[in-house]
Amino acid sequence: MGAMQLRHFKLSFAGKLRNWELAAYELDQIKESFHDAATLYPGIPVADMTIMAEPVRRLGEAIQKKEPKKFAAAFSELTAACNGCHQAIGRGFIVIKVPTSSPFSNQVFEPAARP
Ligand code: HEC
Repeated sequence: MGAMQLRHFKLSFAGKLRNWELAAYELDQIKESFHDAATLYPGIPVADMTIMAEPVRRLGEAIQKKEPKKFAAAFSELTAACNGCHQAIGRGFIVIKVPTSSPFSNQVFEPAARP
C-alpha cells in the first residue's frame, strides 16, 4: 500500500502537469499494485477491488485523449475509491486525498520540452 500511495501521488502530478506519457506509465503501475494488494491481503473482498476499475478506466481514457478536466474528475473518483475500501475493511482512519504539493524534489514531473 505504500507503493500505492507513491503511485497515487505520481499519477496525480503527471496528470496535473499534463505529462501524459508519465501519467500512462504510472496508471499501469497502479494497476499492478492492485494485483499485488489482492494477493497480499486475501481478506479484501474482491467487490471492493472492483470499485477501482471504473475510475481507472476513466483515467486511461482521459490520459489517452489528453483531457486535464476529465483526468482531474477521474482522479477524484479514484481517490474516493481508495478511501471506500479503507472504510470497508475497518481502516477508515487511512484517509487519502488529492496531493497539493510534491514531496519529491528529486524527480521532474513536467513533460520534457519539445522543439
Ligand atoms: C481493495 C481495498 C483497498 C483499496 C482499493 C486501496 N487500499 Fe490502501 N489499504 C488497504 C488495506 C487492506 C490496508 C491496510 C494494510 C495493512 O494494515 O497492512 C491499506 C493501507 C493503506 C495505506 C497505509 C499504509 C501506511 O503504511 O501508511 C495507504 C497509504 C494506502 N492504503 C493507500 C491507498 C491508495 C492511495 C489507494 C488508492 C489508489 C488505496 N490505498 C486503495 C486496502 C485498500
